[in-house]
Amino acid sequence: MLTKNVVELLESDHILQEYKVNGWVRAFRSNRFIALNDGSCLNNLQCVVDFENTDEEILKSITTGASISVTGTLKESEGKGQRVELDVKSIEILGNADPEDVKKTILQPKKHSLEKLREQAHLRVRTNTFGAVMRVRSKLAFAVHQYFNENGFYYVNTPIITGSDAEGAGEMFKVTNLDLKNIPTTDAGDIDFSKDFFGKETNLTVSGQLEAETYALGLSKVYTFGPTFRAENSNTSRHLAEFWMIEPEMAFCDLEGNIDLAEDFIQYVLNYISKHCEADLEFLENRLLQEEKSKPEKDRSPMPLREKIDFVLKNNFKRVSYTEAIEILRNSKPNKKKKFNYIIEEWGADLQSEHERYLVEKHFGCPVVLYDYPADIKAFYMRLNDDGKTVRAMDVLFPGIGEIVGGSQREERYDVLLSKMKEIGVDEKELWWYLETRKLGTCKHSGFGLGFERLVLFATGMSNIRDVIPYPRTPQNAEF
Ligand code: 4AD
Ligand code: MG
Repeated sequence: MLTKNVVELLESDHILQEYKVNGWVRAFRSNRFIALNDGSCLNNLQCVVDFENTDEEILKSITTGASISVTGTLKESEGKGQRVELDVKSIEILGNADPEDVKKTILQPKKHSLEKLREQAHLRVRTNTFGAVMRVRSKLAFAVHQYFNENGFYYVNTPIITGSDAEGAGEMFKVTNLDLKNIPTTDAGDIDFSKDFFGKETNLTVSGQLEAETYALGLSKVYTFGPTFRAENSNTSRHLAEFWMIEPEMAFCDLEGNIDLAEDFIQYVLNYISKHCEADLEFLENRLLQEEKSKPEKDRSPMPLREKIDFVLKNNFKRVSYTEAIEILRNSKPNKKKKFNYIIEEWGADLQSEHERYLVEKHFGCPVVLYDYPADIKAFYMRLNDDGKTVRAMDVLFPGIGEIVGGSQREERYDVLLSKMKEIGVDEKELWWYLETRKLGTCKHSGFGLGFERLVLFATGMSNIRDVIPYPRTPQNAEF
């Protein structure tokens, strides 16, 4: 007997064939109809039970949340909303779910808030919303690898534990193997942190960029896709302490080529899910429409989810220099009543998220790429322009999300890089290996980092980044 999953049976044309299928009971109606879900797709398989010939004990155990194994014959369904159903021959109860226990959890079939679901992160994947989000997330991750593989990039794995601060922003979690029962101390009696990691000071990586650069200077086109960590105390719906970042890096490539790649890459992966996640995206869109209805009209999103994705696929990203953006912001009246909380007067100030949102959502109405930022507000490794005050940086800003990509052409000139590091106090002894690549066959090169969860946020229309990663790590939560 063939064992199949629910999606295979729902799409199967092999009527009257016998199959076995496993899953969790979503509902059991009239002692007869089981809605079976195994997470392979959004929809449930209707399994029709011949209750007169089924053991009483088994019927009692078919409760919401229980795991079961069903064998039966696939049939065309007469019921509404499904093409096929399974005519059940036998049922095995794999794991019971006591209704009294289920009642205390989000498995109870009723509407639960996203906050409530977050408290039960170990169970929320069994809901339609999280099943859909996590399937889209998985397909997006696959599309990421497929894109780079098709375009001549090699996948490299950069270290998670590292001695360097790639962003120079000091937002690192320390790694320690200190024996807390026997804490080593200095002669002065302080904790001796030099003993942290087998005698070295290390932290969790904030970005694989610096190591990826050295690999691009050997393999030409590489990308990383792994977890990164930020010890910033940001409690926003866009920030996580642990997030996944995709970081392509290309030798012989300048900033324009880098922006072209970012645009092409984002459009490719969104196109991939719009083709391969139709049912989930439709479900997520309807969910969003329901949510929007409960908001006052002025706060509603003007575009449904799939239209928003389509819009990004069909329109070029608007490329604007930082200097032009400042001019636009200075001349803008964001809102008749309410001005920006923080008005940009001075060239050189960092943009706040309200400015980014204004540019993307109000002024241009499409994704925006800002480039050539002031050197002082960007990282040490970005290539200095001939004007001596701006660097070849670029950020991609997305509607409803803000910054989704941050990247740059890298400073490939040894002397310029060294003097920048000295100027802002980046330890050249720590980054000796990075500097050395600028002496041994250096060349222009560029890359960017895309926050994977921000991409999943956009693609699913969810509004909180905590709801697009299985177990969110935030300043308040690392319980699971
Ligand atoms: O702009 P960031 O800090 O750039 C870098 O780390 C570069 N080294 C990348 C590179 O050039 N290879 O981060 C890149 C992206 C951001 O645009 C954002 O999408 C995401 O990573 N990101 C976060 N996502 C979730 N939570 C956070 N705390 C994030 N911080 C950055
Ligand atoms: Mg950034």
